[in-house]
Amino acid sequence: MIFQTLEGFPKDFLWGASTSAYQVEGAWNEDGKSPSVVDMLIHPEETADFTVASDHYHRFREDVALFAELGLKAYRFSVAWTRILPAGTGEVNQAGLAFYQQLIDELLLHGIEPVVTLYHFDLPYVLEQKGGWANRETIDAFVEYADVLFTAFGGKIKYWLTINEQNTLILHPGAIGLPKGGELPPKKVLYQQNHHMMVAQARVMARCHQRCPAGKIGPAINTTSMYQETCHPLDALAAHNWETLRCWSFLDVAVHGRYNALAWRYLEDRDLAPVMEPEDALLLLQGKPDYVAINYYSTATLAASRGDASDISARAGDQQIMLGEPGVYRAAENPFVAKTQYGWVIDPVGLRLTLRKTCERYHLPILITENGIGAPDTLLPDGSINDDYRIEFMRQHVEQMQLAINDGVELLGYCPWAAIDVVSTHQGYAKRYGFIYVNRGEKDLMDLRRIRKNSFGWYQRLIASNGVHR
Ligand code: BG6
Repeated sequence: MIFQTLEGFPKDFLWGASTSAYQVEGAWNEDGKSPSVVDMLIHPEETADFTVASDHYHRFREDVALFAELGLKAYRFSVAWTRILPAGTGEVNQAGLAFYQQLIDELLLHGIEPVVTLYHFDLPYVLEQKGGWANRETIDAFVEYADVLFTAFGGKIKYWLTINEQNTLILHPGAIGLPKGGELPPKKVLYQQNHHMMVAQARVMARCHQRCPAGKIGPAINTTSMYQETCHPLDALAAHNWETLRCWSFLDVAVHGRYNALAWRYLEDRDLAPVMEPEDALLLLQGKPDYVAINYYSTATLAASRGDASDISARAGDQQIMLGEPGVYRAAENPFVAKTQYGWVIDPVGLRLTLRKTCERYHLPILITENGIGAPDTLLPDGSINDDYRIEFMRQHVEQMQLAINDGVELLGYCPWAAIDVVSTHQGYAKRYGFIYVNRGEKDLMDLRRIRKNSFGWYQRLIASNGVHR
C-alpha cells in the first residue's frame, strides 16, 4: 500500500443511487408528455420497451419511501424534457413540472438530496424531426428548457448535471438503440451534434450560475481508463489515443472550454471537424463546471492498430465494449480481470485509477453518478432475490473509492446504477441493476411489485456505517 494510513469516508458523503426518466418512469404519453427519441426507437420484438418501464411515474411515493428505508443520502434522476416542454420549446406543461415538484419535495421530506440530470438520452422527438442536435437551434431549445427548471426548482436543487454521457451519444449511438428507419447519422453529423451539445452545455452551466447561486453543475461522462496490452510503446500510444478520444476529449471541452489538441487534429484529419460559429470559442469558455460526474463501469485493454480490418473486433460493441478503429487502436483482452455475463470488464482498481486521473486533470470534486452490474436477477420461490454478485461488485468498488479518497481525490459521493430496476438501454428488462426488484417480465407487466434484493440490506448497512460495514 502506498500510504500507511487510511482515511474514512467524509461525514457528508453522498451515498446515493441513480435512474433516468425514460428508463424508470413509464407513463410515456400521459399528462401532456410528448414522445422523445427513445420512445420512437425500434425495439427487438422480445425486449421490454419504455412505455411502462418501472411505472415510477405512478409509484414514486412508494419508491421514495423505499429509498429512504435504504438510507439514501442522494437520489440522481433525470427530468424528461418532453414532460416540461412537449413541443421542445415554448409552452410549459404545468402537469410535467408538478410531477417533478412532487418528486423533489418527497425526496427532501425524507432528507434525500435530489441530484438532477437535465437530459439523459431523451431528446423531444419534435426537435429530432427538425434535425435534432445537428440543428443549431437545439442549443437555444436546451437553454430554454434548462432555464425553466432552474427557475422552478433552483431554490431546492444543489446538484445539477447537464447531459448524461455525451460521449456515448456520439461514439456509440447504436448502444442506445436504432431510430425508426434504422439509420445512424454519419460521423461528420455526429461530431456536429457533439459541438452543439458542447456549446449548449457551456451556456447552461453559465445560466445555472446566474439563476441558482447556491447550485452546482457539472457534466456526466462515461469515463474509464485504458490499459495497453503490452509494454510496447506503440501499444501505450494506442491506449492513450482512445482514452483521450473517448473520454478526456469530452470532459476537456466541458472543463477547460476548449477542444483537446489531439482530438481536434483527429477530427480535422478525418474531415470530421464541426463548423464553429465565431462566438463559440467564448461561449465554451464561459461554462465552468463546479464538479465532474463520472459514470464508471469497466476498463478496456488496447493494442496498436494494424491499420486494417483486424482492428475491428467481430464482437458487437456497446458503451463499454471497445471495437477498435484503424489507425487509432485495436481491442485486446486483459487476462487479469473478470467480465459480467454481458461481456463488461469488472475492474474495481480501474475505478481508483480513473478517479485519480480525473482529479489530477481537472482539480475539481468528483461525483460518481453510475457504477453497477447488470444481471438477470431472479425472484426465488421464497420471495428473495439473491444478488450476492452485486454485493461483491460494489463492495470491491467501494473499497477502491476509499483508497482513491486516501490518494487525495475529493469524492463527493457514490450514486450507483440503479436505485431500482429499470429498462436497460438496449437489453430490455432482463438485464437488471437495482437494489429494488420490480416484479415484471419483458412483456408481461405482472404486478410491478417492489421487492428488496439482498443488496438492499447490504447497501443499507454500508450507508448506515458510512462505508465501514462492507
Ligand atoms: C449508462 C447509461 O451508459 O449505462 C444508462 O447512462 C444505462 O442509461 C447504463 O442504463 C447501463 O447500461 P445498459 O445498456 O446495461 O442499460
